[in-house]
Amino acid sequence: MLDKKNILIGVTGGIAAYKVVEVASRLKKSGANVRVMMTRNAAEFVSPRTFQEITGNAVSVEMFGDAANFHVAHIALADFADAILIAPATANFLAKAAHGIADDLLTTTVIASDKPLIIAPSMNTKMFDNPATQANLQILRGRGAIILEPATGELACGTSGKGRLPEPAEICAAVEKHLSLVPCPLSLKKILVTAGGTVEAIDPVRYIGNRSSGRMGYEIARAAVDAGADVVLISGKSEVEPPTGLKFVKVEAATQMREAVLAEFDSVDAVIMSAAVADYRVKNPAAQKIKKSADTLTLELVKNPDILRELGSLKKNQVLIGFAAETQNILDYARKKLVEKNLDFIVANDVTATGAGFGVATNIASIIWRGGEVENFSKMSKADLADKIIARVANLLSCD
Ligand code: CTP
Repeated sequence: MLDKKNILIGVTGGIAAYKVVEVASRLKKSGANVRVMMTRNAAEFVSPRTFQEITGNAVSVEMFGDAANFHVAHIALADFADAILIAPATANFLAKAAHGIADDLLTTTVIASDKPLIIAPSMNTKMFDNPATQANLQILRGRGAIILEPATGELACGTSGKGRLPEPAEICAAVEKHLSLVPCPLSLKKILVTAGGTVEAIDPVRYIGNRSSGRMGYEIARAAVDAGADVVLISGKSEVEPPTGLKFVKVEAATQMREAVLAEFDSVDAVIMSAAVADYRVKNPAAQKIKKSADTLTLELVKNPDILRELGSLKKNQVLIGFAAETQNILDYARKKLVEKNLDFIVANDVTATGAGFGVATNIASIIWRGGEVENFSKMSKADLADKIIARVANLLSCD
C-alpha cells in the first residue's frame, strides 16, 4: 500500500500517455496522493482534465500561468513528491534529463528533485535501441534513476518490438516496491551478482559442468536492477535469458569467473555469489578432442580457487552474500561456510527437496545471519526469494 505517499507523475508526449490514466487511478486507489505534471505534447494526447478528475488534484503543464496555488511551481512540485514517476518517458525526455536540460515545467521539476526517480520509457523500437537513447538511459541509471524496461509487442506506429509501456499494474508494482517494499532503495549502489555454473574443459568438445540453471542468480540480478542498483551480472553456463538493464559478463571456467569478479570487486558495494563454481578443474585439458581408446580414462583434477573465500579475506566495506546448496546437514554446513568465507549472510537450501534446487522456478531456503539467527522461508518463487534477499542487502548497505 502507498498510504499517504506523495507521488508525482510526469507524463511526456507519447501515445502511451493514455495508459498512465490507469496508473494514476491505481496509485490513488493504493492510498497515494497523486499529482500529475504534463508536457505540452502530452496534453495533446490526453487532456489534463482527465488526470485532474482521476487524481482530484490540479494538473500542471505550463511553467508560468497555471498551478496558481504554487509560488514557484517546479520547486513546490519537487518538494511535494516522495517519488517521481515519468511515464511514458519519450526519447526526448531521456535526452533532456540525462543532460540536465530544463526547458519546461516537467524537466525543470525533475532537475529540482532529489527524490527517487522512476522512469518508464516508451517509444518505437529503433528510437529505443538508438545508441543515443541507450547512452542517455545509462547516464540516468548511473545517477540512480530506476528505469523500467519497456515491454515487447505491437507498437502504435504499426511495427512490433521493444518499446511498449509496461502494463499499468506493473508500473504501480514497481512504484510500490520502491516506496515500501525495499526498505532502502539501492539507487547509487553497485551490486555484483554471480550466477549459473562454471564449465571446466576436458578437451575442446567436453567439459565438467553442473546442474545450475542460473535462474536464482538471474532473478537476484533482476531484483537488484528493480531496486535501482547498478548491477553487474557475471554468469557461467545458464539456461535462461539474462535480465536487461545491467552489465552482463559471460564466463566459462571458475578461473575466468574469479578474474571477472576481482576486476569489479573494489568498485562494488555488495557481492551476491549465487554461482555454482566447480571446486576442481582438469589439470591438463587436451588441446584436441580425446579419441576413444583404452577401457578406462583417468582425468587428473586440481582444486579451483574459492572465489568467495578470497573475497571474504579481501573485503573492506562490501556486503558479502553466499549460497550453500546442500544435500544433507544443511544448516551446519551453511554456518561453516558463512564463518569461513567471512559472509554477512548465507542462503542455504536443500537442492534435493521437491520445489527447490536446480532447474525449477521455486526454492525453499533459509537465511543464516552472522549472529546465528536463522530465517526459514516456505516454498516460494525464485523471483520472490530474490526480492527478499535484495531487501536484506539493501538493509545492510547504508542508505545515504
Ligand atoms: N564458491 C566460490 N568458489 C568456489 C566454490 C564455491 O566462490 N570455488 C562460492 C559459491 O558461489 C557459494 C559458496 O561459495 O556462494 C558456497 O559454495 P558451495 O559449492 O556450496 O561450497 P564449497 O565451499 O565449494 O564447499 P563444498 O563444495 O564442499 O560444499
